[in-house]
Amino acid sequence: MERLRTTYLGLELKNPIIVGSSPLTSSLDKMKKCEDAGAAAVVVKSIFEEQIGHDAAKMIKESEGFVMHTDGEDFLNQVSHNYYIDNYLKLVEQATKELDIPVIASINCLSMGSWIDYVDRFGDVGADALELNYYILPSDFKRNGVEIESEYLAVVKSAREKSKLPLSIKMGDHFTALANIVKEFDVIGVDGLVLFNRFYQPDIDIEKFNTKASVVLSNPDDYPTTLQWTALLSAYLNCDICSSTGIHDGKTLIKMLLAGSKATQICSTIMKNGHGVINEMLTTLVEWMDRHQFNDFVDFRGKMAHKRLDDPTQWERAQYMKSLNVEF
Ligand SMILES: Cc1cc2nc3c(=O)[nH]c(=O)nc-3n(C[C@H](O)[C@H](O)[C@H](O)COP(=O)(O)O)c2cc1C
Repeated sequence: MERLRTTYLGLELKNPIIVGSSPLTSSLDKMKKCEDAGAAAVVVKSIFEEQIGHDAAKMIKESEGFVMHTDGEDFLNQVSHNYYIDNYLKLVEQATKELDIPVIASINCLSMGSWIDYVDRFGDVGADALELNYYILPSDFKRNGVEIESEYLAVVKSAREKSKLPLSIKMGDHFTALANIVKEFDVIGVDGLVLFNRFYQPDIDIEKFNTKASVVLSNPDDYPTTLQWTALLSAYLNCDICSSTGIHDGKTLIKMLLAGSKATQICSTIMKNGHGVINEMLTTLVEWMDRHQFNDFVDFRGKMAHKRLDDPTQWERAQYMKSLNVEF
C-alpha cells in the first residue's frame, strides 16, 4: 500500500516493519516467510565475532594430537574463521537474490576484531545495508566511561570508513551521556541507529547452581524506554532512527512513528503471536490513519517528538512526582 511507504538508511521500504536479527532470519526459508507475511525488510541473524573464535577453538580441540605446531593452530584458526564468514556471506547473497525486500546484514561484535577485515565483502554479495551490533559490557573496574566511549567511536568510525554500504548501529541505552554519544555517531556519518538492542541477561538456577538465560523475549510493556529516547532524539539527528524492543502491536508501532521513527524492528511478537501479527499491526496503523485523516507518514511522523512539542519537558521527566497521585 503506497501510503505506508517509508525510507530507512536510504532504502525504500513498503511499510515501517522490519524483522530484526534473530532466529526468525537465520535461513533463507525463514526470511522468505517474513517477506510473505508482509515484512518490509529483514536483518539477517548476526554473524558473531565470539562464534568465530569459539568455532576455531573447538576445531583445534578436536584436532588435539594432530596439530603439533602453533602454525597448525594458526592454520585451523584461519580455516574455521573463513568457513564461518563464507557461510554467512553465502546466506546473505542467497537472501538478496531470492527476496524482493531489502536484506540487511548484521555483525555482532565485542571489539575491533577481525570482522573489520571482511566488512567490505557484504557489499560484494549484494547486502542492502549493514547493521553493527556492538556492545561493551562495562564491567572492567579499570576502564572509565571516556575510555569505553572512545572505543565505541573508534569502532564505528572504522566501520564507516571501511563499508560503502548504508550503516546502522544497533545500540543499548547503557550510556551515561546517551544523547552525546548518539550525536557523535551521527557526526561520524552513520545512516541509522537501532534503539535499542535487547541484551542477553544471565539468571541463576538455584537448584543446579549454574547460570541460565533469563527471559529472552520481550513483553508488550517493554517499549517505553525506546519510545522516550526515540522522541528525545529523532528530530535532532541527520540519521534515521529505527525503534526496537517491546513493539508488539499496532498501537505501539503508531507511538514509535509519532515519536519520530523511520522504521521499527520486531522479533518477540512474531515469536509469540506468529507471522500474522505483521499484517495485524499494519491494519491497526491504516485504520488509525483513516480515523485521523492522515494520508501518509508526512502528516504525522515525529508529531510527538521532543523538538516538536510546545512543552517538551514531558519527555524529560525522570522521577515520579507526588502530583501523579497514584494511590496504592
Ligand atoms: C532469540 C533471539 C535471538 C536474537 N539474536 C540476535 C542477533 O543475532 N543479533 C542481533 O543484533 N539481535 C538479536 N536479537 C535481538 C533482536 O534483534 C531484537 O533487538 C530484540 O529481540 C528486541 O526486539 P523485540 O522486543 O521485538 O524482540 C535476538 C533476539 C532474540 C529474542
